[in-house]
Amino acid sequence: MRIAIFASGNGSNFENIASTVFKKVKVALLITNKKDAYAITRAEKLNIPYWIVNYKDYISINEAEKAILTKLKEYQIDAIVLAGYMRILGDTLINEYENKIINIHPSLLPSFKGANGILDAYEYGVKVTGVTVHYVNSELDGGKIIAQESFNCDKMELREIEELIHQLEYRLYLKVIKQLWDGD
Ligand code: GRF
Repeated sequence: MRIAIFASGNGSNFENIASTVFKKVKVALLITNKKDAYAITRAEKLNIPYWIVNYKDYISINEAEKAILTKLKEYQIDAIVLAGYMRILGDTLINEYENKIINIHPSLLPSFKGANGILDAYEYGVKVTGVTVHYVNSELDGGKIIAQESFNCDKMELREIEELIHQLEYRLYLKVIKQLWDGD
């Protein structure tokens, strides 16, 4: 099972997955839309090939995705893992990889969709928060939920919540990937 991870920024989830030894899963490619993404440095360190897609070079999202698709085929990619990828996917990728694209989001979906899930939940004053792994469809942070984990965050500082969320993300994403594709 060859997977591509899509990441736009820091890439700590990417590194956590890519440095795990699986039975069947192999992280074969990093796709990023940012040429200065720190995820690239992590890929170089781990000897994982990467490809940068600059959406501005294409007339539409679907044209950009056709180029991505060509790369995915070149690397014989079976499934896609989004980890901090700051673009909504279009039909080209979603149709080609139906039920084979997953995403992680740092809130209990369907609450607090979007780029600032942790902060939005904190500012709303939630007493319980957590992490969601879900299948990807064309809606932002939409798609059927695969797994969620929550914790009580009453009276916690934002920093502490962020730290706990990230630790939970690393654990939950590996668990789901293993269950879905690694024969666990
Ligand atoms: C994570 O919090 C993830 O849930 C969200 O984007 C963040 C990516 O962090 N989708 P990193 O780039 O993996 O460090």
